Amino acid sequence: MSAEFGVERAEMLLREWTSNESLVKHGLAVACCTEGYGVREAARLGLHDEEAARFAELYRCAGLLHDFDYDRHPTPQEHPFVGVTFLREQGWPEEILHAILAHADYSGVVPETHLDKALFASDELAGFLTACALVKPRKAIAEVEIASVKKKMKDKAFARAVKREDITRGAELLGIPVEEHIGNCLRAMQEHAAELGLVGVTG
Ligand SMILES: [Fe+2]
Repeated sequence: MSAEFGVERAEMLLREWTSNESLVKHGLAVACCTEGYGVREAARLGLHDEEAARFAELYRCAGLLHDFDYDRHPTPQEHPFVGVTFLREQGWPEEILHAILAHADYSGVVPETHLDKALFASDELAGFLTACALVKPRKAIAEVEIASVKKKMKDKAFARAVKREDITRGAELLGIPVEEHIGNCLRAMQEHAAELGLVGVTG
């Protein structure tokens, strides 16, 4: 992927199209999770150095861009189709566009590639983990543990907008237990706590 279509450009587009700061944070959080899966998959494929870095970057871009048109075009008639058309005109890699289409279950595009699955699996979970962090005493993602996330998934009143079945289906698509999926995304978000605004309050 050329620099023109790299993570910086993707983050710029996300910020340019999104005035809602929590939606920007959502894009960043999903990007941390998908990037983590990209790093893991690159290692599994035996990629090294620049090739591995480019591969992970592709995953991060998909996370950053999956909802970049949502603020301007939130209806299911437009999102993510308007964004994908724009990105295609700009020349972004088709792998990213396919993953963005597949993350919307009403698009008619089903998750096929590992990137598609990683994005689908990370989308709802990233939001859920953020919600889990915000009810902790210090509102820090570092305070969140896998067991408490699983418990909260059963609590229907908690973060009710998050579709639990998308989280479990995502783990199934990736072929890993849901605990492992939660652990992967939790670690990824903990490593990027500062940029996600989830370091927590002091005192
Ligand atoms: Fe999303």
